[in-house]
Amino acid sequence: MQALLAAGMTPEDHLLDIGCGSLRLGHMAVPFLKPGHYWGTDASLALMRHGRLHELPDPEALPLDQLIQDADFAFPGLPDRITLAIAFGVFTHLPAVNLATALANLRRFPRLRAALFTVFLAPEGAASTRQPDGVVTHPDRPPYHLTEGAVTRMIHAAGLTPTRSPMLLPRGQVLWSATPPQIP
Ligand SMILES: C[S@@+](CC[C@H](N)C(=O)[O-])C[C@H]1O[C@@H](n2cnc3c(N)ncnc32)[C@H](O)[C@@H]1O
Repeated sequence: MQALLAAGMTPEDHLLDIGCGSLRLGHMAVPFLKPGHYWGTDASLALMRHGRLHELPDPEALPLDQLIQDADFAFPGLPDRITLAIAFGVFTHLPAVNLATALANLRRFPRLRAALFTVFLAPEGAASTRQPDGVVTHPDRPPYHLTEGAVTRMIHAAGLTPTRSPMLLPRGQVLWSATPPQIP
């Protein structure tokens, strides 16, 4: 929530929570946003549905069809009106091609102001790396790390502009924002 509020989220925004899991963000974002303004995707429909029933103060505030099973970052069935997207702790567990695919596919939302996501970073050529809080990340297996250059190249390749946030996040994750060209 802090990252989204820092990015200017208001109740009017239409939020896409990519890899939303059991709604750790959703349980705060759904009550904050106007009704119908939260959408979640995840590889596991069961996990999202469990979160809806057990984590939300009012499950009826989130229509079931706004939780979409999507393991390919293809964003099926989502409306064009999405204005903000976030993927927290998702690409830390997946090979880099998934991030590239997600960024490319996010371009189909004409009103998107920013896509936020977290990764672990390591220097160019680094093998297994101990992150600031002790978690060990790897170039070729989960939890994955990327170089800063690889992240910026993937964001640019999707036609978006990268910004690395100084915000300190759990486990040493680094928050990035990718913004479409028309947004200052
Ligand atoms: C560490 S959890 C983070 C969940 C949530 N974003 C949070 O902050 O609590 C990673 C999530 O990514 C989901 N996931 C894993 N592979 C995925 C894929 N290929 N497509 C979409 N979601 C995926 C998992 O099901 C899980 O819910």
